[in-house]
Amino acid sequence: MSDSAIPKNFFSPRVGRITVSPSNAGAQRVRELRAQGRDIIGLTIGEPDFETPANVKEAATAAMGREETKYTDVGGTPELKAAIRAKFKRENNLDYAPEQIMAGNGGKQVIFNAIMSTVSAGDEIIIPAPYWVSYLDIPLLADGTPVSVVCRPEDGVKIMPEALEAAITPRTKWFVLNSPCNPTGAVYTRDDLKALAAVLLRHPHVWVMADDIYEHLIFDGIKFASIAEVEPRLFGRTLTVNGVAKTYAMTGWRIGFCGGPVELIRNMTKVQSQSTTCPSSISQAAAIQALNGPQDFVKPRAQAFQDRRDRVLELLREAPGIECFRPQGAFYVFANCAGTLGKRTPQGRTLENEQDTADYLLDNGVAVGVGAAYGLSPWFRMSIASPIEELTEACQRIRRAVAALK
Ligand SMILES: Cc1ncc(COP(=O)(O)O)c(C=O)c1O
Repeated sequence: MSDSAIPKNFFSPRVGRITVSPSNAGAQRVRELRAQGRDIIGLTIGEPDFETPANVKEAATAAMGREETKYTDVGGTPELKAAIRAKFKRENNLDYAPEQIMAGNGGKQVIFNAIMSTVSAGDEIIIPAPYWVSYLDIPLLADGTPVSVVCRPEDGVKIMPEALEAAITPRTKWFVLNSPCNPTGAVYTRDDLKALAAVLLRHPHVWVMADDIYEHLIFDGIKFASIAEVEPRLFGRTLTVNGVAKTYAMTGWRIGFCGGPVELIRNMTKVQSQSTTCPSSISQAAAIQALNGPQDFVKPRAQAFQDRRDRVLELLREAPGIECFRPQGAFYVFANCAGTLGKRTPQGRTLENEQDTADYLLDNGVAVGVGAAYGLSPWFRMSIASPIEELTEACQRIRRAVAALK
């Protein structure tokens, strides 16, 4: 049976404005190529390769045994909200009331709820580039205008206070700040945050979305800081977003959460009530255990990511034409491939742009994400959330491939 003919204007312009998440699309491409028998190392997806901790899985099983299999409160069970409040207090020194907390189906839904409940046509959202692509696409779905501000490698790929100031207009609604950053791994220090906060204090109509989802994946002994803690005068207009996906290797459980102003949380909850109703009851039980249970595995896992970063940087130092930015957190390496452009492959093709370089690497058995999808060219993103042996092999393939360019 085939599909019906699509009526004219059936799909909304809204959906035409957005793209499929590049890491989802990249992972799909890797699956297809492998199904054709190709030996491909996929470095496109952003999820830890570690297992969800056993105590968390047991908590989910126990919840099912207790028949916790029904709808819950829209923004999460009281027990989950209590665990989130305790986490914010313990780890971030942020004191949220229960009505200032909500959970959703992943950090992504939390951000979606916030944008849907605040952004209308013409509203501007300032996004430092390179960025996680959903910061751009979710406002586009809401008819908003993303304003991307390109950060310079010489500034540590971080937005500078002057650049933030220059980007603010009367239509600015949100400033999105992601630290550690996907895709660069840049981390904003307390001083960086203080300097940005000084700008924001001069513009009280701008609200701050602090995406702290990579909080615990931080390297070199750097201490994580969140902007509402560093500048308490921003607390009343900051949405602090976090989740269990990255810290606890729970990407598939789909639990994200946030703390923020009561009215904002109320409206976000309204949006969620008309989209997914509530996060999965079983996943909520698991998240409670993740947040309240032992945290002893968190640091060793961050150390494992740091070791992988070190290995990848060391191996790619000897890859002609490729220069990596040194990440201080998260689990990606963002690499500049300007030095490969204009060169010829052994097959006689000239690499005109970063897509050509990514395609050439794919021909050589490594899938990476192109920087354009993250707002900066000519770069590419490699996820380092794979075993170190696989990363070593991937880097060797990249080295051989770029060394063969003429
Ligand atoms: C910067 C950033 N924020 C938020 C998310 C969303 O995470 P989740 O919806 O899985 O909780 C991701 C996932 O890749 C991310 O990279």
